This record gives sequence, C-alpha cells and structure tokens, in this order.
Amino acid sequence: MREIVDFNQGWRFHMGGDLPDEVIAFGNVNLIAGETRLWQKAGNHGVSNPANPHVDKWRLVRVPHDYALEGEFTRNESANNGALPHGEAWYLKKFELSESDRQRRIILEFDGVYRDSTLFANGHYIGRHLSGYTSFYFDITDVCDFGGINAIALHVDASENELWSYEGAGIYRGVRLVKRGLTSVPTWGVAVSTDGADDPGRVTAAVTVRNDSYDQADVNVISRVIDPTGRAVAEAQAEVSVADVSESTTTLSLQVSHPSLWAPDSPTLYTLEATVMLNGEPLDLCTTPFGFRYFRFDPDHGFSLNGVPVKLKGVCLHQDHGCVGVAVPPAIQEWRVRKLKEMGCNAIRTSHNPPDPSLLDACDRLGVMVMDEHRVSGSSPELLRQFEDLIRRDRNHPSVILWSMGNEEMGIQDTPAGEAIFARMHQLARRLDPSRPTTYAMNSRWQEIVERHGGKGERRWDVLGVNYRGGGNSPANFDIAHAKFPDWPMVSSESWGGTATRDLYGPDVTPMDVVISERWKEDEFCWKDDDHKYFASEYQNCQTPWGCDIEETWRNTLERPFLAGTFIWTGFDYRGETFPYEWPAVITRFGVMDLCGYYKSVAHYLRAWWRPNDPHIFLMPHWDFPGHLGREKLVRCYANTHSVELLLNGEAIGTSRMTPNDRLEWRVPWEPSVLEARGLDADGAHVISTRRV
Ligand code: GAL
Repeated sequence: MREIVDFNQGWRFHMGGDLPDEVIAFGNVNLIAGETRLWQKAGNHGVSNPANPHVDKWRLVRVPHDYALEGEFTRNESANNGALPHGEAWYLKKFELSESDRQRRIILEFDGVYRDSTLFANGHYIGRHLSGYTSFYFDITDVCDFGGINAIALHVDASENELWSYEGAGIYRGVRLVKRGLTSVPTWGVAVSTDGADDPGRVTAAVTVRNDSYDQADVNVISRVIDPTGRAVAEAQAEVSVADVSESTTTLSLQVSHPSLWAPDSPTLYTLEATVMLNGEPLDLCTTPFGFRYFRFDPDHGFSLNGVPVKLKGVCLHQDHGCVGVAVPPAIQEWRVRKLKEMGCNAIRTSHNPPDPSLLDACDRLGVMVMDEHRVSGSSPELLRQFEDLIRRDRNHPSVILWSMGNEEMGIQDTPAGEAIFARMHQLARRLDPSRPTTYAMNSRWQEIVERHGGKGERRWDVLGVNYRGGGNSPANFDIAHAKFPDWPMVSSESWGGTATRDLYGPDVTPMDVVISERWKEDEFCWKDDDHKYFASEYQNCQTPWGCDIEETWRNTLERPFLAGTFIWTGFDYRGETFPYEWPAVITRFGVMDLCGYYKSVAHYLRAWWRPNDPHIFLMPHWDFPGHLGREKLVRCYANTHSVELLLNGEAIGTSRMTPNDRLEWRVPWEPSVLEARGLDADGAHVISTRRV
C-alpha cells in the first residue's frame, strides 16, 4: 500500500547558484584536477552525493519557503515585481529509505517551485521543471539507496519573471515523498466526474494503473464512493491487464442514490476510493475527494448551479500574501477563503496561474467556486504540457468550474497565432475534461477579438471572459458583444480596478513620499486634483483608466442577466504592481482587503450587497481631523438596511433611503464629536449601527 511522507521539513538551503568545486565535484570518480565534469558520466553530481559533508553546513529551512523575502528592498529591482532580488539558490535534503522500501516506487511530488528547477538525486541528474506554477513529480526509484541515506538537491533559478507582480522564489509550496507499490495508481491517475442534471447520482471514475514491474500485471480495480459519514454507497470493479512498464486506464460507472449536492451553502464532499487488487490482496489504495454538482453557463441567463441561478460574486487572487510572500501555508489559504466568504464572495479566480492545491482544497471544503487559470498561453509541447498538468491535477475538485486559458495576451489575442493557440488549448481541455468549459480573459481590442474567436466549434472557447468594461470605457461593450454573439455565454472575468489605502481619506492626510509613475502622470483617471496626488484614498478617486467604481462594477453585473458574474481585482493587497506609484512603493493597493485582511471601504460595499439579507453598515471617514474645525467632510455610508439615519453627537442630521446596491453621502462640517450611522428597517426600527470618532 502507498505511504505518503510529508517532505516539508529538514531542507538545507544555500543562497546563490555558484558552489565551490569541492562541493560540486565531491565524490566525482571521473574528476580530472581542476574540472568538475558534471555531465560527463552518470552519478557525477557531487552536491547530491549523500556522503557530501559540505552541504550539511547549509542552514536548515522548512518549506513552504520564499527566499526572495530575505533580500533587501532595492530600487534596482522592478517595483512591479516587488523590488526584491531573486536569483538562484540550492535546496538539499537527506533521508533514509529502508530495505522494505525496495519493492516500491519512490516518487517526489512538488506542488510548486518558483522557478526553473533542476532535480538531482544521489549524484544523478533527474529532471528539470520550468514553470513556476505547475505541480510536478519525479520517480527517483532507480537511483535510491534502500537501507541507506539518500540525498536530493534542487537547483532553483528565479531570475526570470512569469508575471508582472511579485512571484517569490524557491520551494514555496508543499513537497511529499510517495512510496507506491510496483503496480499502483500514478500521480493524478484518477479522474472522477459526476454526470449532471439528468442523472445527478451517476459517477464516472477513470482509474489509471501503472505497472512498473517487468511482467504483465493482471489486477482488479475496485472503486467505491464513500459518503461524508464514511459509508460506502456505491461500488464497481473491473479487471485490468497492464503490460510491463506501462499504464492502462479503466473507466467505471457508479450510481449513488440521492446524493447531497455540493454548493456554496452546503459543500458536501464524497470520496472516491480506488483500490488495486492482485489475487485478493490490495496493492494500492488511492483516495480522491469529489462532489456532486452540476452547473451551466447560459448565454441568456448567466450561471446556474444545481439548476439554481447564481451570480458569481468573485475576486481575483494572487499566490502571495503579506509577510509570508508566496510561501503561503495551507492554514493561511483557508483563512483567506474564509475571509472572502464572510464578505459574501462565492468565487475566486486564481489570477494568473495554477493555484496552490491547498487553496483548491479550502475552496472545496468551504464552498467557493474557482476559475482555475493557466499561466503562459501557447501551443508548444512545453506549454500544452503545463496546461494539461493543470487540468489533470485539478479536475476532481468540485470547486473548479472554469479552465482559463490565459489573461490579456495583448500580443496574440486578436491575431492568427492567438486563434491557433486558443483553439489548440481549448481542444486539449475538452479532451481531458469535457465537463468544464474553457474561458479566456480578454481586454483591449475586444471587438477584433470577439470577431476573430466568435465562430463555432474549435475556433471558440466556451465562455467569453471580459476584463473590465470590455475594452474601451463604455459599459455598453458587454451588450455589444452579447448582441453580436447572443449564443456565447459571458463572464466579467476581471473588474473594478480601483486602489485604496485602508482608512486613508485624502486629501486630509499626510502625503506619502512616493513617486507617481511617468506612465500614469497625465492620466485623468488616476486623480482629479493636486490635493489628491500621492494618495490612494478610500473615496475611490484613484482608479485605473480601465476600471470603474465599485457601485458601477456591481450594478453592471447585476443588470445584465446574461453575465455569469464578476471577479473583482483583487481580494487582498499583494506585493508588487504598485500602480500608480513607483519606488519606494513596493505593494499594490488593488485589494478590497489589505495585507492583514482588514476591509477597505470597498469591501464593506461588497459585504453589504453580496449578502444583502445580513445587515451590515460602514461609515467613513474616521472622525479625527484636528485643526479642521468647520471644514466640510464627505461622509459616506455603505449599508444594506432600508434607510440610514446620520447623527452627530447624538443629534440627528437626517435620514435617507438606501437604494439597493448604492451608497449614501452627506456633507458634514467637522467638529470634535462622534459621528453615528443607524441602519433602519422599513418601519423605522433600528437594525444595526456604527460610530466613528
Ligand atoms: C489587469 C491585469 C491584472 C492587473 C490589473 C491591474 O489588466 O489583468 O493582472 O495588472 O490589470 O489593474
């Protein structure tokens, strides 16, 4: 049976790519004085020689680990990428394998390494993995020492960027060592799908069996569906013959009566157990969580889940989070999903890359849907392999509802190359997972893009992803695209585009000493007057030219039944992308929550209208403006009650009716006092209140 060993502890770390000859050439039997000859003969790699004592002096780290965080902020590095040096590094881990492991395959699984990693084991080159976002694994069995000490060395080169924001460096996601029998289910070897509206209880399980022995293996594959209470509720089996050193996939059909459906309010998870049996003895057991649910993107009526119309109330999310950089442990992933869900969010777009599996696990458990995004669009074998790996890894997660083939590929989205590339990627996704639609998040030149890709069949991806207002600044673009291709479902794949610093209410605060990027200096959308420059105030007066305010963003989505929903840019602040500022700004202000998960004003708007039936109220600005006696302040209230009464020092200023999905504003001269907003129901009764001092 398989054994899964947590490999997150006990890594030795060396910053920098260059190592002294004595380390690289350690134990090199072919060494000629002064030459290292790494590649000349198998097994020459000294760093990963288990007896190499030099590496034992390297310091110990634990993964997830982000070594870029150890650097000093510098203006010599791109502020957009976080103003930190990246560069190369080495990781090394030694571990024992017992004699009894000899009859097993030894597989190392990495959830994500940033980036360009090269693995060596016990002196041997094993393989290289380029992408900083896809998961990968290597079978190192043949070079293992059973009954002895083994060493693996991973060289990482993070000097290149894949994104235009902070990407970190190193083994920033989990690592496992998997010991499997010679005949067993390989990594990502199970694909579970549920059949949808016509037959919600039907499960199709495609189970791959890998035989690493030199004889044919005639085995039995037993699949069981286990319900949330641990009871087996369906079973099917098949005989499978697998030739020596090869794989074979068998497809089993199982029927569960009256399954509990997976949905945001009731994210019920079942488990598919796949057991490989030989002569009545189990060789391997592989468990895969999954859910019963069906959904549809409809060109007229938007998105529905389990037959019920649902607007996707989504946010975009980068990998990195605050102090931990990209090395986000599963507990913080879960915390992020909980914070977003509490705000009323029901969907996440993993912009712009394959996510950490622990984020998807949290979304499965907590009931948040996912637009799962690929990083580099392309149809070369390398890039198609990356897309394939994403789909194979993530296709069993009930949370995943869309495969996104890319984001704003301005160089290709309206060119023949783009047409060929997206057609190829779409076809691959269809073949690997016919149950989920594809999308692509397009921006500028949308007319040309829509025209080019708007045909039928393989020319066209399934759901039209429109970033921001669809290109120009007219909200009508959604409508023009819809009128042109009325049979093409649509989602607002990215929206809002405002910036704010939590609880800063310019112009009445001290300016920050940062430089406005030349690129945006003249842009009238960024700030309106001299008083506002240097600020990203909470009044939404520092917008990107391509965005619009939060009220308009959400109303745009609500007013168009054909729009499946929207994904706000972004859920939390992240490192890099310092728009519209330059050094010494090092983080963005795009998040609706800040790095610590505190709500900015925009998050209060979303909390109010994404959960309209749970009372919420927020009042801004703070009411602490020494020296401003008598100066008029713009008071704004986000609330979802029928009306709001404003009081200053207990004296009523007025009561206003709240229009759904809107905000209220007053102009109030400042005095040292207490400002209070009281949310009232239709009968004038008090529901909820808040105060600022
Ligand atoms: C979008 C882009 C995002 C981010 C955002 C900032 O166009 O897709 O990655 O850069 O702009 O407003």
